[in-house]
Amino acid sequence: EIYRSSTFAPVNIAVIKYWGKRDTKLNLPTNSSLSVTLSQDDLRTHTTASCSDSFTSETLTLNDAPQDISGARTQACLRELRQLRQTLEENDSSLPKLSPMKLKIVSQNNFPAAAGLASSAAGFAALVRSIADLYALPSTPTELSRIARQGSGSACRSLFGGYVAWNQGTQLDGSDSVAYSVAEQAHWPEMRALILVASAEKKDVSSTSGMQATVATSTLFQHRVENVVPGRMEGMEKAIKERDFPAFADLTMKDSNNFHATCLDTSPSILYLNDTSRAAIRICTAINSSAEDGKPICAYTFDAGPNAVVYYLASHTDAVAGVFKGILGSELEGWEGVKGRDVKAGS
Ligand code: DP6
Repeated sequence: EIYRSSTFAPVNIAVIKYWGKRDTKLNLPTNSSLSVTLSQDDLRTHTTASCSDSFTSETLTLNDAPQDISGARTQACLRELRQLRQTLEENDSSLPKLSPMKLKIVSQNNFPAAAGLASSAAGFAALVRSIADLYALPSTPTELSRIARQGSGSACRSLFGGYVAWNQGTQLDGSDSVAYSVAEQAHWPEMRALILVASAEKKDVSSTSGMQATVATSTLFQHRVENVVPGRMEGMEKAIKERDFPAFADLTMKDSNNFHATCLDTSPSILYLNDTSRAAIRICTAINSSAEDGKPICAYTFDAGPNAVVYYLASHTDAVAGVFKGILGSELEGWEGVKGRDVKAGS
């Protein structure tokens, strides 16, 4: 007999960035972060987990290519999930004994891996939830976020839709370093995100190694962690609760700039933004400075790569997405055609 369960997990794009770990094994961060989970119709991972007595080895494939399942991060997630299932089986002997069975995990992304599009976030979130469903675990999304975080830090935020915060926590074992919902997607359904793919190539410095280089060498980073992010987390939660787009946009752009400044301040310097990214910043700035009341109507943000994500409200679709698509379609060099996609935030 084969037991099987499938799930989707969408990508999330941080507006207050996670960058730096206080524990590299458990992916415990040096600051809290906040993100918007994109619609699962667009950028997402689909994962099917199955287990059976007839499986002789444990396997993981991504987009049909076999992956190394023995990595410490994947194993940490599998160990935790198995443990929870084992406890259920011990307490209820009528349950089938799934925990000793080998797992077969099959994932498909509908976007390029490792191009700064948070593929690991959707990937580990889908992996954890598909197995939790297969094992019929009664865990809440917050409990699962603690497990997914060990796969990839940002993955803990993809277990929720809408607006999600990840509390850095203070416990050494990471038990309080979990994600929680700030607001459902339906709280602010007008939010839109335009994904501009400047390069679908694999990034040269992975976030995992980049952030540790920043922790080790950047003095600006200390300032960010101690003096900048805590106030921004509060301001961002407030902006979201009040649906205050200008405040949301201002904080989003400032935090992306501050994060990339710490990358520049790393020795040797980490340069994720390229000329194409900077062109997107200029276009955003120009759109915002032409807004009637002088308040921003769009906000750019960049993760560990050159691709831009631009947040805006549906009422400004023509003024933001229309302008970007027009420019990218004709004049702007360096973009891989118009791969920008208009996605709805929230799942
Ligand atoms: C720039 O979650 O990919 O996207 O925990 O080492 O897997 P690991 O790092 P990862 O880092 C994401 C960094 C970021 C910012 C963010 O998503 O908050």
